[in-house]
Amino acid sequence: MNEEAIPSAHTNETADSILTDRQGHPISDNQNVRTVGSRGPTTLENYHFIEKITHFDRERIPERVVHARGAGAHGVFEAYGTVGDQPPSAYTRAKLFQEKGKQTPVFVRFSTVIHGGHSPETLRDPRGFAVKFYTEDGNWDLVGNNLKIFFIRDPLKFPDMVHAFKPDPITNAQSMERFFDFISMSPEATHMITFLFSPWGIPANYRQMQGSGVNTYKWVNKDGEGVLVKYHWEPLKQGIKNLLQRDANEIQSTAFNHATLDLYLAIERGDYPEWELCVQIMSDGEHPELDFDPLDPTKLWPADQFPFLPVGKMTLNRNPEDYFAEVEQASFGTGVLVDGLDFSDDKLLQGRTFSYSDTQRHRVGANYLQLPINAPKSRVATNQSGGQMQYRVDRAPGQNPHINYEPSSLGGLQEAPRCGKEHEPRYDARLVREKLDRPNDFKQAGDTYRAFEEWERDELVANLSNALATCTSGIRSRLIGYLTEADSEYGKRVSEGIAAAASKLQADGADRHPAVKKAEQLGHGADP
Ligand code: HEM
Repeated sequence: MNEEAIPSAHTNETADSILTDRQGHPISDNQNVRTVGSRGPTTLENYHFIEKITHFDRERIPERVVHARGAGAHGVFEAYGTVGDQPPSAYTRAKLFQEKGKQTPVFVRFSTVIHGGHSPETLRDPRGFAVKFYTEDGNWDLVGNNLKIFFIRDPLKFPDMVHAFKPDPITNAQSMERFFDFISMSPEATHMITFLFSPWGIPANYRQMQGSGVNTYKWVNKDGEGVLVKYHWEPLKQGIKNLLQRDANEIQSTAFNHATLDLYLAIERGDYPEWELCVQIMSDGEHPELDFDPLDPTKLWPADQFPFLPVGKMTLNRNPEDYFAEVEQASFGTGVLVDGLDFSDDKLLQGRTFSYSDTQRHRVGANYLQLPINAPKSRVATNQSGGQMQYRVDRAPGQNPHINYEPSSLGGLQEAPRCGKEHEPRYDARLVREKLDRPNDFKQAGDTYRAFEEWERDELVANLSNALATCTSGIRSRLIGYLTEADSEYGKRVSEGIAAAASKLQADGADRHPAVKKAEQLGHGADP
């Protein structure tokens, strides 16, 4: 018992354990509301009750519009101080990479993408892998997924894609028909679904999966020269493990939270997961010699031409103290870069960069960057103030507190000196609405199909066939067309697989979702 312990009439409470409300009032009865007589009615001045119930009524904030289900952990990133045979400064002046052994604290949130906040973690879905680096120059967020590519390359398509993957607006039921309807009208997604319907679409847990920034970024050195860069996280001692559909089904029959618990328990027992951060580097430019555009997020950069260069190691070694405060309110965004890191012209990346902080102002609030999980650990000095839930002024020591504008001659904040030459790419082009050239939607899907091991191909064909068997014949034939363009064997096997799966479903009387059948009877959605 500590020295300040106050003996209590009840059990062994101490001053520290006494319940209060948020006004600091000690609560001596937390069991009975105040009523007129023991049988009620209750009275309106029940301040403690009203404060308690109204806070409870507001316990939820909007869940993330995507990536709602997640788990997080704190850790550290340690730089290797090299990039291949070069010092990092050859490519980037970002301070966190420069010295061997330099440590930067991090917070990571892993997630599933499409399903809601308490959905099973066994579902076939990309996994989010978002890392917040609290660097000396402010925060850097690397907001990635486990898979190295994406479904689409234009951000204008994202809301439609998510609508198709989420539940039907009337029945509130998800369906493979909605999913593949969109995919079958978006040939650029062929590569992504080749990964997603293989065992790589269900990582065994969050520790044993890769991560990737997916989009193309830039690194900028002190001379303002930029190179294109892609980021990848490779699991170290824990390795990579994916699930077959039947294994996932088995886990799901008993456990909804297996990945969250796996991460939490590993860290509790001191078995800290580690990932190596690797970069692929390409000179800035269009690279006409390649059969894809380096800004196309549906493409892998061939590792034999653009090797994975390790730049540091991340270890997750501390669980959050509070899920809501740290994991739920964590806010990551692709715009959150530090000096020496830059955007490329990747359109998907630029669309994302607007979307993240926009949704976070809605989801968490205007002052979301003042929350401890989101605030940098370096100094913050801005002229921004006000907005709901501001609790701190970003004033610098010695700053004239009256001066909340810049420029000023009266002791306000001043611009920072430049760290190096600005990266200033030149543009000379028409303003257009056009696709990237070299879309090459199928070649890499075929390469990936052929690069899989036999059991991975078998699983991919079975998963795709079972899913497509529930879709209209129009959707099936468009998809089979894409898969055939990728690899004729791939198309043929899925076509045969669909036929077998469809006749089995028909025999079971379960070939189509009842809501879809109903819609067709009403004349909607028919696509023979
Ligand atoms: C979360 C938008 C593509 C990875 C989100 C959120 C939005 C969003 C609005 C919710 C953020 C929040 O509530 O805090 C978009 C748009 C995209 C896009 C508009 C394309 C135009 C991608 C891609 C990746 C990705 C390509 C992978 C590289 C993530 C991750 C999260 C997320 C990991 C969860 C972050 C967290 O744990 O809080 N995205 N996204 N997104 N997105 Fe995207």
